[in-house]
Amino acid sequence: MYEHRSSTELSLHKVSQSEKCHGRECQTVAMAELDGVPVDPGNLQALALTNYGHFTSMRVDDHKVRGLSLHLDRLVRDCRVVFATELDRQRVRELVRQAVGTRRGSFVVRVTVFDPDLEMGHPGAEAEPRVLVTHRATSAVPLPPLRVKSFPYQRDLPAVKHIGLFGQLRLRREAQRAGFDDALFTDAISGLVSEGGTWNIGFIDEHGRAIWPKADVLPGVTAHLLSEAQGEMVTEPVTLTGLPTIRAAFATNTTVGVRPISVIDGLDLAADHPTLEILRRRYQEIPGEPL
Ligand SMILES: Cc1ncc(COP(=O)(O)O)c(C=O)c1O
Repeated sequence: MYEHRSSTELSLHKVSQSEKCHGRECQTVAMAELDGVPVDPGNLQALALTNYGHFTSMRVDDHKVRGLSLHLDRLVRDCRVVFATELDRQRVRELVRQAVGTRRGSFVVRVTVFDPDLEMGHPGAEAEPRVLVTHRATSAVPLPPLRVKSFPYQRDLPAVKHIGLFGQLRLRREAQRAGFDDALFTDAISGLVSEGGTWNIGFIDEHGRAIWPKADVLPGVTAHLLSEAQGEMVTEPVTLTGLPTIRAAFATNTTVGVRPISVIDGLDLAADHPTLEILRRRYQEIPGEPL
């Protein structure tokens, strides 16, 4: 198994006083601001002990974010579902800009929306969600191909990026302890392939077509941007038993862009399929929006 800790999605939320980012020193000091001021650890207890809320993570490269508007759209949309309140997207953008400050280089910013006062016994109370901005280091891309193990599993509210990650992490752990890098989810009844723990999956079939699986998944910002840039991507049902007609597969998320998948269960896939490199480059060429 390759060193899976090189994947930033797999090396979780490290915040240090001085980090190497993308081969450069990115002048980071620990950044964790709640509504624009350094967060009081007491306010973080709700995340550790109750853990109700939603978030987005976005890769920042020299003050620019690919799909920034889509990340803000996600936060606004999910806030309505999770808290039945309107989030001020311009304010969120300003909070992110302020927290990033003059830091240059590449890193991942996470915006978490939660209410520190919402109690476990009374989640039905009127919520006043607040905005926590944190960051963590990211590594240089491209990363080595992923080897994944499938599990029947569906995330709670698949369209929402909520902070309840236990199910995903439990299966990622099981996959890793079985010698794989990550978990791939399928529908328990239909067998339809859906997504990974923190990524969408796409396939290249025997005719060279790029396919997204038709299933209940998180609408990924990366997948959206890639579809726009590439055109010609179709959405079709994909099952594990149909995989032999698949030549290659890839994972997408904001941190790594497009990452080849070389193994799904016992099936070897062409991690060097030429279309994968085309997709990877196409995504890299998408300009970022300034913060
Ligand atoms: C379950 C799940 N699916 C897909 C994705 C990919 O989303 P994005 O491209 O917006 O990073 C993520 C990202 O963390 C995720 O958690």
